[in-house]
Amino acid sequence: MPLRVLVTGGGRGIGRAIALRFAREGAHVAVAARNSGELDAVAAEITAAGGKGRAQQMDVGDHGSVEGGVYRAVEFLGGAMDLLVNCAGVFDVKPITSMDVASWHRHMNVNLNGPFYVTLESLDALMAGDRPHIVNVASVAARTAFPGNSAYCASKYGLRGFSDAIRLDLKDKGIRVSTVYPGATDTKIFDRVPGNWDRSKMNKPEDVAEVVWKANRATTGTPIDDLDVPPRA
Ligand SMILES: NC(=O)c1ccc[n+]([C@@H]2O[C@H](COP(=O)([O-])OP(=O)(O)OC[C@H]3O[C@@H](n4cnc5c(N)ncnc54)[C@H](OP(=O)(O)O)[C@@H]3O)[C@@H](O)[C@H]2O)c1
Repeated sequence: MPLRVLVTGGGRGIGRAIALRFAREGAHVAVAARNSGELDAVAAEITAAGGKGRAQQMDVGDHGSVEGGVYRAVEFLGGAMDLLVNCAGVFDVKPITSMDVASWHRHMNVNLNGPFYVTLESLDALMAGDRPHIVNVASVAARTAFPGNSAYCASKYGLRGFSDAIRLDLKDKGIRVSTVYPGATDTKIFDRVPGNWDRSKMNKPEDVAEVVWKANRATTGTPIDDLDVPPRA
């Protein structure tokens, strides 16, 4: 039976790499985001890699959009979900002295409300899944503060708390919950970040995908609650 997977933020970057890592093992993967062109391309890549891909347009910050999107993704997956990866996210660097209300709300909506909405709408399908697993992609900024990161840190610290709390709620349902804490990773998210970044020193999206793959496949009892992504040598 192929793994049945939903990855938000699956149109590019870390989400795309996670989707393709599972596709290589034959998984059926629904990828969700707003940009349908990117989603269509990744869905085709999933199928070419040996899985079965589905592009599912969804704005994770809009509960109505999530309700419809998860419903259609679960239909594609055949009524059950083995793995949900909450990866959609945004990142602006703005010190509090220049923070604006719109940027603050965007971070909270996409990075924190999004995983809540998508998890809520996926629970029934997860409970029908095999060794079900929720993976929340946080950040090193869920544990450590950085300048200009008030909205991002608040949303990611919040996601870490959400993840820790639902792990307790879902333990007796057999649903595993992992939080991932990537450091700087070479994706388009850095296109909007001011400064001279040496992207060659960053992790690659595939490094995060490998950590998620190994955690999902780990035998029962292996600690997978908190997943760091070791920096490349
Ligand atoms: N790159 C890093 O250094 C790094 C480090 C730590 C953690 N992270 C986290 O990793 C996750 C993925 O980041 P990335 O680096 O891969 O960034 P990315 O390349 O910019 O990808 C972000 C993904 O999220 C989707 N997304 C954004 N807003 C959305 C919305 N409202 N609804 C649905 N999808 C939405 C984007 O698609 P659309 O724009 O088409 O919707 C895209 O597919 C984020 O949660 C980020 O915070 C990244």
